[in-house]
Order: sequence, then C-alpha cells, then structure tokens
Amino acid sequence: MEITKICCIGAGYVGGPTMAVIAQKCPHIQVTVVDLNEQRIKDWNDPNTDNIPIYEPGLSGIVAEARGRNLFFSTEVEKAIDEAQVIFISVNTPTKTYGKGKGMAADLKYIELCARQIAKVAKQNKIVVEKSTLPVRTAEAIKSILDNTGNGVQFQILSNPEFLAEGTAVTDLLNPDRILIGGDTTPEGEAAIDALVNVYANWVSKDKILTTNVWSSELSKLTANAFLAQRISSINAMSELCEKTGADVNEVAKAIGMDSRIGPKFLKASVGFGGSCFQKDILNLVYIAKSYGLNEVADYWEQVIIMNDHQKRRFSNKIVQTLYNTVADKKITFLGWAFKKDTNDTRESAAIYVADDLINEQAKISVYDPKVSRNKMLSDLDYLETRSEVENAEALTIFDNAYEACKGAHAIAILTEWDEFTTYDWKRIYDSMHKPAFVFDGRNILNAKELQAIGFVYNGIGA
Ligand code: UDX
Ligand code: UDX
Ligand code: ADP
Repeated sequence: MEITKICCIGAGYVGGPTMAVIAQKCPHIQVTVVDLNEQRIKDWNDPNTDNIPIYEPGLSGIVAEARGRNLFFSTEVEKAIDEAQVIFISVNTPTKTYGKGKGMAADLKYIELCARQIAKVAKQNKIVVEKSTLPVRTAEAIKSILDNTGNGVQFQILSNPEFLAEGTAVTDLLNPDRILIGGDTTPEGEAAIDALVNVYANWVSKDKILTTNVWSSELSKLTANAFLAQRISSINAMSELCEKTGADVNEVAKAIGMDSRIGPKFLKASVGFGGSCFQKDILNLVYIAKSYGLNEVADYWEQVIIMNDHQKRRFSNKIVQTLYNTVADKKITFLGWAFKKDTNDTRESAAIYVADDLINEQAKISVYDPKVSRNKMLSDLDYLETRSEVENAEALTIFDNAYEACKGAHAIAILTEWDEFTTYDWKRIYDSMHKPAFVFDGRNILNAKELQAIGFVYNGIGA
C-alpha cells in the first residue's frame, strides 16, 4: 500500500517535530496534525513560525517550508482520522497521579480515548501507529478496543517509538541512529510494516530501519531510556564520591569514556536528569517488573530514580550549607529552568525541585531562562502542591534579563546548560551581587578558574 495521507493525534513535543520532518521529506504525503487543545493548534498555525508552541533549533524553518503545502494543523480530529490511511498516536502518557499504580504506572486514559475515537470514525482499514512511549503490551489493549468497538474494518497496530531528544529533535529526526518499527508477524502485519518503512525510506537508509515484533519494539523504548538514565545516575553517584576524595568527575568521565566499551556520551555529571521520558519510563518499567513479581528487577531500576532524587536534593542542601546554613530571605538566582538547553520544555526539570527545597528554607528565588515563560515556571511549582499559588508567586520572581536577575543576589545557581550563560560578563554580574558571591554550577559549564579569579566562590558538581 502506498501511503498518501497521514494523521497524527497530539501536537506536542513528539508529534509536532516528527510530523514536520515527515512532511518536509515526503512532499507527496499529506500530513495532518490534530489536537484537542485549540490554543496549541492556533499557535502551530501562527503566521510567524517563530511563535510556534515548541522551541527546537531548526523547527520553525521546516514548518515554514511545509505548512500549508502538505503539513496541516487542525482541531478537526474526526475528519483527519477519517481521511488518513495511517494514524499516529502521539498523545501524552504521564505517570498516574491516582488509583492503582499511582506515582508509577503510565496513565493510559488519553491513549484509550484516542483508540475509541479512531474506532468510532474509521470506515476503511487503517494502520494505527503508537508513537508515544507506552508500557509493553499496550498494543494489545488498543487492538482490543479497535476490534470490539469499531465498524468492522481491519486495523493493524504498529509500534514506532520515537528516540529523538528534545533540543536536538530536528537533527535526530533527519539523521536517526535507527528507526524501529514493530508489528504483527502475520502477512497483514508485515504489509503494514512495509508501508511505514517506505515512508521513512524517503530519507533514512534501509539498513537503519529495524523491524521487530510489537512487544520488542515497545520494550526497546523503555530499555533505551532506562540505560541512558542509568549512565547519568551512575556518573552522578561518582560525582558525590569525587567531592569527598579529591577526584574530579570530569576527569573520571573522560578517563572511562575513552574505553570504547563505555564510550564518551551521556557521562556529564549534573544536578540530576529531567525531561518527560526518563523518570516516567523507569517508574513504568519498575511497575511492570513488580506486576510480574520480579522484585529484584524492579529494585535494580528503581535505584536509578532514587539516585536522581538524591542528586537534586544534594544540590539544594549544598547551597543551604554553603550559605552558612541559612537562606531565609536571601536572593538566590537560577539561570535556567528548562530540563536541558535548547528546549522550552520543563517537565521533571531539576530546577523545579531545587526551587521547592529552597523556598521551604524561605529563600527568595529569581529566575532567568531564555525560553521558558513565567506562567510555565509558576505552574510547575504549583503542580507540586507544596504551598499555595499565592505563596509560590511571592517566592519566585521571573526576569527576562540575566543581569537584572543576578543583581543583589547572594548566590547564582546554574540549572540548565544554556550556551549563552558561558558568554556573560561575569565581572559585571559579580559587581552587582552580595559578597561573598557564590556560584553553584549544576551543569559544570562555567570556567571555575576564571570565576575564582574574579572573586566568586565557585562550586561545581563532583569536584
Ligand atoms: C575486566 C575489564 O574488562 C578490564 O578492563 C579490567 O582490566 C579487568 O576486569 P575481565 O574480568 O578479564 O576484564 O573480563 P571482561 O571481558 O570484562 O568480562 C568480565 C565478565 O563479564 C566475564 O564473566 C564475561 O563473560 C562477562 N561479560 C562481559 C558478560 O557477561 N557480558 C558482556 O557483554 C561482557
Ligand atoms: C530522552 C532520550 O535521550 C531520547 O532518546 C528519548 O526518546 C526521550 O528521552 P530527552 O529527555 O529529550 O531525551 O533528553 P536527553 O538529552 O536524553 O536528556 C535527559 C536529561 O538528562 C536532561 O535533563 C539532561 O540534562 C540530562 N543529562 C543528559 C545529564 O544530566 N547528563 C548527560 O550526560 C546527559
Ligand atoms: P509529548 O512530549 O509526548 O509529545 P505533549 O504533552 O507535548 O507530549 O503532547 C501531547 C498532546 O496530545 C497535547 O497537546 C494534548 O493536548 C494532546 N492530546 C491528548 N489527548 C488527545 C486526544 N484524545 N485527541 C487529541 N489530542 C490529544
């Protein structure tokens, strides 16, 4: 089957960039991205593509090229489902905040809603593609809903997990390490897999397109994220030991990274990993392992999360201790709020937890982040429900200029590794601060020697 019409349900960090790149690379395919959130669709359709709701380097140019040609953003979910041969499900699957599996299991209510909507609308055979990260065997649930509530048409369910990292989404999509497509091992399943392979083959060489059964594909996504997060927790565990022993974690990371069995990537010690995937996927993996009675497997992976929580808390504790065991009424300036550079996404960002700890100690937090909005920061804090919205708004002041944010501060904490932070006039910042002027570099991006020469008391991670 030749694919000419694709629909994607969910215009978020995964659906938006992925569909933009498919549309750019496949001008013969009409790609419609739908979302229930009217504001989000309105933003994707903003005449100025610099105002699209997701910031990713290179994305605005691709949207400018393809939008209106073969890329469309719409709230007409049913129409798009009806017209498409292939439907990608890219809706959010957050960790459950209620009921059985609260705090661990993935919340599949949005996925189920999508499946029911597809079943209701579809009058022809369709391929349904899971793009969102899902617990292994979700395809079974989707298939059951589709087959039992549909209009008698045939559905093929594929799993095609997304491996893009935010901040590099466009380059990751244009040049993926691999594309993974899982499907049924029946002739119909294989035909569906082939149809999707041919979409990606427009720009990805076939030797990088891996096909597996559905369950392997679903579990590979969780496995990849668990391995990546584990590397960060492993190096972060070593960072604490480095601080006690006089070793320097940057040197240690370099030394082990040169071993080709280990490799140099994902060994940056930090204030802790964030993002929508790592924590959620590992918690989900732990939950699945427990549900099969595999307690040792569950405990093994849960330790990655325990270590990450410890690393965030350790950072806020260090700030309090260094500032003479009290930060009450002191101004502490955060540079960065996003969970990593080059994105406006803040989900599970370490900054949120560090801010929450310091506000509990009655600090006044000022924040500057080049891409995160004021409302986002406040709603991130409110979501923790530690205190009232009014109290959060009093404790957190948001600036759109880093120099203003740092004026009169007792300490600066780097929470995100934005490149621009390394280019600031640090002497000017030093002159505007209370003395002693402290810097807590949660990303090890600043030049410690230069800052110390200016007069700062510099604290990095793991040295
Ligand atoms: C190890 C280190 O590799 C080496 O750098 C260090 O100097 C000494 O310790 P060694 O113990 O000789 O070397 O062998 P290694 O190849 O690392 O294997 C250790 C164990 O892990 C073996 O039992 C091996 O079978 C097992 N292993 C290794 C696996 O089970 N899976 C793998 O993928 C690799
Ligand atoms: C991750 C996976 O990389 C991606 O393949 C998957 O599809 C989605 O989840 P993402 O969450 O966008 O992507 O970003 P990633 O670059 O993996 O960073 C995750 C977190 O780890 C960030 O908070 C980052 O700052 C932190 N990190 C990363 C470190 O602290 N040290 C490192 O060495 C690398
Ligand atoms: P991700 O990082 O997985 O892309 P996001 O939260 O950024 O997650 O995006 C998911 C999007 O899916 C949101 O914009 C949300 O409004 C949308 N969505 C959730 N459920 C539905 C649904 N049933 N129909 C259409 N859109 C949905």
